[in-house]
Amino acid sequence: MIQTTRPMIGAPISRLDGTKKVTGSATYAFEYQFENVVYAFPVQSTIAKGRVVSIDATKARAVSGFLGLITHENAPKIAPVGLLGPNNDMAVLQSDRVAYRGQFIAVVVAETLENARRAAELLAIQYEALPPDAELRGDRTDLVNPQMLMPGMPADTEHGNVEAALSSSPIQLDQTYTTPAYHHNAMEPHATLAIWTDDSLTVYDSNQGPHAVQYMAATAFNLPPERVRVISSFVGGGFGSKGGNPHFLLTIMAAQLVKGRPVKMALTRQQMFAVTGYRTPTIQHLRLGAEQDGRLIAISHEVVEQTGTIHDFVEPTATATRMMYAAPHRRTAHRLARLDVPIPSWMRAPGECPGMFALESAIDETAEACGIDPIEFRIKNDPEVDPESGLPFSSRNLVACLRQGAEAFGWQQHSRQPGAWREGRWLIGTGVAASTFPVVFFPSTASIRAERAHHYRVLIGATDIGTGAWTALAQIAADALEVPLEQIQLEIGDTNLPMAGIAGGSAGTASWGSAIMDAAQKFRAKLYGELGGELPEGGLEVRGGMERSPYAGQYSMHSFGAQFAEVRVHMDTGEIRVPRMLGVFAAGRIINAKTARSQFLGGMTMGLSMALHEQSVMDPRFGEYVNHDLAEYHIATNADVGTVDIQWIDEVDPYINPVGAKGIGEIGIVGTAATIANAVYHATGIRVRDLPLSPDKLLASLPR
Ligand code: MOS
Repeated sequence: MIQTTRPMIGAPISRLDGTKKVTGSATYAFEYQFENVVYAFPVQSTIAKGRVVSIDATKARAVSGFLGLITHENAPKIAPVGLLGPNNDMAVLQSDRVAYRGQFIAVVVAETLENARRAAELLAIQYEALPPDAELRGDRTDLVNPQMLMPGMPADTEHGNVEAALSSSPIQLDQTYTTPAYHHNAMEPHATLAIWTDDSLTVYDSNQGPHAVQYMAATAFNLPPERVRVISSFVGGGFGSKGGNPHFLLTIMAAQLVKGRPVKMALTRQQMFAVTGYRTPTIQHLRLGAEQDGRLIAISHEVVEQTGTIHDFVEPTATATRMMYAAPHRRTAHRLARLDVPIPSWMRAPGECPGMFALESAIDETAEACGIDPIEFRIKNDPEVDPESGLPFSSRNLVACLRQGAEAFGWQQHSRQPGAWREGRWLIGTGVAASTFPVVFFPSTASIRAERAHHYRVLIGATDIGTGAWTALAQIAADALEVPLEQIQLEIGDTNLPMAGIAGGSAGTASWGSAIMDAAQKFRAKLYGELGGELPEGGLEVRGGMERSPYAGQYSMHSFGAQFAEVRVHMDTGEIRVPRMLGVFAAGRIINAKTARSQFLGGMTMGLSMALHEQSVMDPRFGEYVNHDLAEYHIATNADVGTVDIQWIDEVDPYINPVGAKGIGEIGIVGTAATIANAVYHATGIRVRDLPLSPDKLLASLPR
């Protein structure tokens, strides 16, 4: 039974698309059925640096069902595109240059997937290969200053006199923390189905924003956007990896080659490790200075990370450090190594996730050096206003999260002695860390359409990447229209619907919901004002939207959280078990208590996985991520996850956006790894500053 009484917002409604998903009737991009469909299989470079000299397709052409081959020699010229401006990684097949191992160098089209793959394998490719430079080290002398992390966000910041303040601080911490590369591994591999007819292009695609893909496709192929339709009804996970990748352009090229026939491409799991982005490894130098009483005097956070040679992707790793704590002297800096490696990209909480591992570990170490409980240490350094911008926070409830969490978790202030708590051969410890994520907003529009009484179509080009948007947006619409949920028919995932922002930056629900609320308000004003409550013949459609948060620039807008973990470390094997975790979040209004819990839980689980298992291993001799499948890239399974308790604060923030939601898709992963590392330190007295927390890093130092 679904609840039908208002308010719908906040109610724990089960996913309205759940039945479709579990019965297999939710159609994903690759699953659309067409007559005459053909398949495209991409070909990836087996060298990391150099150029393609020749591609001999004699044997490939002999494969039955072979339809065509596109290489840099016959590919159409395409204009540079990217989600945030031109990205040379998207200039697929535009030159003979190879910039990383796994880069697309050709695509084969054939009648069946098997034949396309077989023909691709039979290509005889000659390269001119150069030795790759693929090793990230902090001491490289060729690091570059990217200047900007994103438009409007400088790479470096400096306030006060950091060096002097650090060297005169009574308590000083100077440590380096490192995180490996990570790959998203969304459950649904990237897939595109493209149909190029005489005057239009239709693309079924697994992505985080159909309008963004429409814009990129139209720009690349020099088509008017209205001649490109992108449909993305269901998407099996994105995590930042589906914001536009070269494979969809490759599929469109193939569709152009076999005009009129639908072309399908699905990347294999192994292919995804080079061409759909990943989180850069980081080397983070943290220096903290504090008074003996625990007040922070100075924070310096200097980051080295990697990108490829054809596009500067900059992970904004130290940005959370700019606004977390109240030290008067602060510095952040980002430096890039441009390597012969695949191009990194956004991955769930880009920046905050690796950055807060380092900062929240360093805070734990500094609190201990001051002899202060880590919760009290954070409370003592909680700023009155945003230290970076000087703006007031629209709301900041980190302290409330820490206090509520301490109470609920049973935080023991008086037994912080590391290594003291044992049960048999298990060492037990608890840890805490903070979470944060900025409140982001993307311009969006929506329409409300009614053709008959008690039936409201809510039209918006949003996309549900697994977050629960199908349900949450229907709830927002029901309340905004003041009608029961079952009178709402939500339509999303199609560029024929009103333009909406991407499912990214944890901004979807707030941005799309604000557009829906505006459209609903205008719809009601028209229907019950001008029209006196009577639907006209042919129905009524009213459009609304929102460009930006009304208070943007006046307040510093962030969500916060506190995470707790209990760990057990086995003295003989070094294995780490995490029997329980707790996350308490302050993220504004919670739209759906059930799907929201899933988002927090999923984020924390991904954070646990990062802490204990995940790492993409680069072989610098080949420029390749060698553990490029789910047999060797280890992700936490159910057996690795204990009890995870999720709570939130009833936070009312009138400034962020009309929905009142801050965004919950990313904050859950932020701080989890530090929480677990801090707990492992408490259990063992061993401080691991290099993720993952694998047994080898503990074994030599564990008590015998
Ligand atoms: Mo997210 S990494 O903004 O999709």
